[in-house]
Amino acid sequence: MSYPYQIRSMDDYTTAWKKSVEDPAGFWSDVAQHFTWKKPWNRVLDWNFRDPSVKWFDGAQLNITENCIDRHLADKAHQPAIIWEPNDPNAQQRILTYAQLHEEVCRFGRVLLNNGVKKGDRVCIYMGMIPELAIAVLACARIGAIHSVIFGGFSAQSIADRLLDANAEFIVTCDGAFRGPKDIPLKSVIDDAVIRCPFVKRVIVYMHTKTPVSMIKGRDVWWQDEIEIVKQSNQHDLPAETMEAEDPLFILYTSGSTGKPKGVVHSCAGYMLYTAYTFVNVFQYQPQEIHFCTADIGWITGHSYIVYGPLSAGATSLMFEGIPTFPDAGRFWDIIDKYKVNILYTAPTAIRSLMAFGLGPIHGKDLGSLRVLGTVGEPINEEAWHWYDEHIGKKKCPIVDTWWQTETGGVLISNLAGITPAKPSFATLPLPGVQPMLVDEKGNEITENNVTGNLCIKAPWPSTLRTTYGDHERCRVNYFATYDNLYFTGDGAYRDENGFYRITGRVDDVLNVSGHRIGTAEVENAINMHSGVVESAVVGFPHDIKGQGIYAFVIFSGNQSDQELIKKDITATVNRVIGPIAKPDKIQLVSGLPKTRSGKIMRRILRKIAEGELENIGDTTTLLDPGVVEEIKKGRL
Ligand code: PRX
Repeated sequence: MSYPYQIRSMDDYTTAWKKSVEDPAGFWSDVAQHFTWKKPWNRVLDWNFRDPSVKWFDGAQLNITENCIDRHLADKAHQPAIIWEPNDPNAQQRILTYAQLHEEVCRFGRVLLNNGVKKGDRVCIYMGMIPELAIAVLACARIGAIHSVIFGGFSAQSIADRLLDANAEFIVTCDGAFRGPKDIPLKSVIDDAVIRCPFVKRVIVYMHTKTPVSMIKGRDVWWQDEIEIVKQSNQHDLPAETMEAEDPLFILYTSGSTGKPKGVVHSCAGYMLYTAYTFVNVFQYQPQEIHFCTADIGWITGHSYIVYGPLSAGATSLMFEGIPTFPDAGRFWDIIDKYKVNILYTAPTAIRSLMAFGLGPIHGKDLGSLRVLGTVGEPINEEAWHWYDEHIGKKKCPIVDTWWQTETGGVLISNLAGITPAKPSFATLPLPGVQPMLVDEKGNEITENNVTGNLCIKAPWPSTLRTTYGDHERCRVNYFATYDNLYFTGDGAYRDENGFYRITGRVDDVLNVSGHRIGTAEVENAINMHSGVVESAVVGFPHDIKGQGIYAFVIFSGNQSDQELIKKDITATVNRVIGPIAKPDKIQLVSGLPKTRSGKIMRRILRKIAEGELENIGDTTTLLDPGVVEEIKKGRL
């Protein structure tokens, strides 16, 4: 047995799940024994979902970086912690051993301190996928600052909204980021964002792409210069700050059904335990193996399964700067072959987009090192599942379909690789500690099988979100008030005769585009910022590669002689307000939207039209102007 808390058989799983439900405190304190604490806890679990208040290991003190780095120095100092593959396959790869990672994190922790960052301060990190991103994250955790990583595809305006919400006075960024053939000028985006945020005191800039940047005197400093200062001081170690178990570790913004993204807050101890536990168990990680999670650290998947989960388990985590199709659609397979990757964890959208290139890009690549495959972020269709199984896993690698959310911190429902059964397109069974439940619209539990319902969770798991930053009431209303005393996921699910769960998708106004969550209200707000737009309504539609595409119905005032130009302008507006990930795939200009007499947009009807179900759009008699539906149907794109 490689890890004392590793489940090794179906019986083990059944026993662990049972114990975790009957005696959560006993179960999780057994797991917690295997981590490093500065002070033990007084109480394992204290909770109620009404406030909500969730506390794990209250009274304990720790620092997550001692668990992710220091404790591995005794036996894994020279083992790679992070392997970095650059965007350009001909550029130099980098390997950071645990000893080197320790040194880098301590140094950058000192840089943060030298620049005035204190425990509890919020630090915004806006970087490309380079090792310094992981180093910056860990350095914040080392000194007890709260990191808020923003995905490198977000616009200046989205960044400013987040800086304001978190009142983040410190920013760590790069001059630019390479993504496929593009060089994205991150620092200049930050400059635009900071115009609205004069409270920002310091911007630390890592020079990576050598893109020209303007450095503002008194505010901006170069990462490399600051590191030099620390090196000169000859201070190599940096003792890890003492953190309370429930101190916040990070904020990560995510979309909901309202227009404004929420700052999901995770705390130190519970998040650490749960990401390590799920990493080891879901992927059945074995020491020395190379784990390749293709997500960006700007999303929760990267936080939990590139950085914290693997490192707290002493694993080797492979980080890739680029995109799957650059310089060609064989890039993932080249990387697997080059490093002899054992675990590949990616999104169905990536699988579907690579499938579209046929088998040519796989030809001649040795994928024999692969042992486990994983998917995350959206439902995987059976065709993609079988392609992944046959052509990538060569039918010898279990595929784990991991269902979870930014708010859940770690995987809640998934098969365990090779241990519990897989079923294509099913996430299958809950992890130990997780009690899923299906409810009907009224909140009544549905106990039978072969049913669909709204997916809720009955009791807290260690990495339950603790709050939404600066607005606890919002957290309560969003997640804990729809159904009494339950965490509501916002997802629908089907449960089969064996109790296996299949996630059917969001039941709220949130889209899942290429595995990224985008609130329809957020996209509408962005479209409405265009001066010619009177009103808009956004819905999702099935998209072969992205899973869901964005369909926008827009009422536009003024000259419409050049519709293509109007659509381009609207797209550019969304790009500027949110970022390229929220760009509508289709924009239909309409003269009106289907509304009820009380003025509510009937999205159900728009969804049917967007999906092409024109014959089956249901009752329109309650609409203010049923005629508008016919017009929209005729103009469907
Ligand atoms: O709808 C579910 C979908 O992604 C949502 C969570 O998005 P986010 O917070 O961005 O986190 C994504 C990565 C964990 C969920 O509410 N989702 C996630 N995983 C799956 C999934 N849908 C189906 N199957 C999955 N395995």
